[in-house]
Amino acid sequence: VSCAEQFRPAYHYTAERNWLNDPNGLVYLNGTYHLFYQHNPLSADWGNMSWGHATSPDLIHWEEQPVAIPYDDDEAIFSGSAVFDQHNSSGLGTAADPPLVAIYTSAYQGASPLAGRQAQSLAYSLDEGRTWTKYHGNPVLDRASADFRDPKVFWYDGEAGSYWVMVAVEAVHRQVVLYKSADLKAWEFLSTFGPANATGGVWECPDLFELPVDGNRRDSRWVLIVNINPGGVAGGSAGQYFLGTFDGVAFRSETTVTEGLQQDDGRMREYNWLDWGRDYYAAVSFNNVPDGRRIMIGWMNNWDYAHQTPTGSWRSGMSLPREVSLTRVEGKVVLRQEAIDPFGSPEVPGLRLGAQALEPGTMELPTSASVARIDAEFEPGGAKSVGLILRAGAAGRTILRYDVTEGILRLDRRNSGDVRFHDAFPSAESVAVPQKEGRLRLRIYLDRCSVEVFAQDGLATMTDLVFPPAAATALAVFVEGDGAQLVALDVVVR
Ligand code: FRU
Repeated sequence: VSCAEQFRPAYHYTAERNWLNDPNGLVYLNGTYHLFYQHNPLSADWGNMSWGHATSPDLIHWEEQPVAIPYDDDEAIFSGSAVFDQHNSSGLGTAADPPLVAIYTSAYQGASPLAGRQAQSLAYSLDEGRTWTKYHGNPVLDRASADFRDPKVFWYDGEAGSYWVMVAVEAVHRQVVLYKSADLKAWEFLSTFGPANATGGVWECPDLFELPVDGNRRDSRWVLIVNINPGGVAGGSAGQYFLGTFDGVAFRSETTVTEGLQQDDGRMREYNWLDWGRDYYAAVSFNNVPDGRRIMIGWMNNWDYAHQTPTGSWRSGMSLPREVSLTRVEGKVVLRQEAIDPFGSPEVPGLRLGAQALEPGTMELPTSASVARIDAEFEPGGAKSVGLILRAGAAGRTILRYDVTEGILRLDRRNSGDVRFHDAFPSAESVAVPQKEGRLRLRIYLDRCSVEVFAQDGLATMTDLVFPPAAATALAVFVEGDGAQLVALDVVVR
């Protein structure tokens, strides 16, 4: 296996060749999920930004399609979204054949009279996303700004009326800007949001959607997603979210931390982070998914070192798609995330351990894997720590350790394999995870170069890349101190 293929994920999306970053244009239509993405068709480094394209019937199996929207001498095609314009409001299709419309950022360059500007443009498809035409009236929204980008457009249908809403960013101002339109072509300014909470880097790739709390439609919140780079909770790129109201004009946050906006580590932890690891960025959601399900995908990388990850002819993949919902925990509304599970429920798992007392020390599991789903439930009791050792080999391992007294879950990749390709890569991430009825539940998705942790049924997630040798596949459970119980442990291997 070549060096490039050694790290090729078994079930995360990667482009067959070349560079990839943000998910773009996530949209469902007629049984197909479309994943467009920032892509360099010519090399494994960032540049020549175009929209790559992949399709899936189930969010698990992806098929790469031809590049959908290519760059040209005058513009790079930066991030954005796609909508199904069912009633042909844009006139870009016909009533009988309504268009898919992509709303993307034109990053003007070269000899373009707009070179240096970022403005919003349209492209449309009349064949369910196979081929795309740029709209001749581009750009459709220009603020004469160098950092106005990443439009997410959705159909708003509420008390204020029914129209398209765009959330985009003035990235350097740490501001989300909102516009509305009847036809996707003429846009009217609505409001701005921010700066607020995490502001230690530019704001990018926003999203805005409504979710019921614990399934109750009369008790809903609007969720504003704001990705930020750098200034993320674990260093570099990350996503934060705000909860509040949206009246068709303005978003009002109920989760802004007002006591001083100086950022120290402690205060950053009070913000709502989408993921507490280092490799979940530019996360945005699908439009048009049936049954009101809200599904997000993030780019599984970090601008701190994205250009150096050691994967050769392809670079970067997507996170697992995650269904998000809102739930109340001790009176507070929070986001819960559940991965679309590529492992299903096989009749014979790779390994199943039942309830048992855990002796202090390390217990190697009789199953090894680099591609697996692990479910572990602990009753930590009076122990000092419990945890799992992942992708262990002769020279390294990744450690997931729960400090029982502090209630902190920590993912440590400092000795996980190849960590030397960038100074910022070796790291240990942590998140506060209270026990629930004396228990800690962990679901872990391992792939050839990643670890995604969902703690307490997705109330906290941590996503990290790791680059261990292919032979580093050992798994172990460990305990420090007395009194811990294993409730159950399941490993499904692929
Ligand atoms: C986020 C981002 C976006 C931009 C795109 C360019 O990762 O910087 O703001 O549109 O990447 O590739």
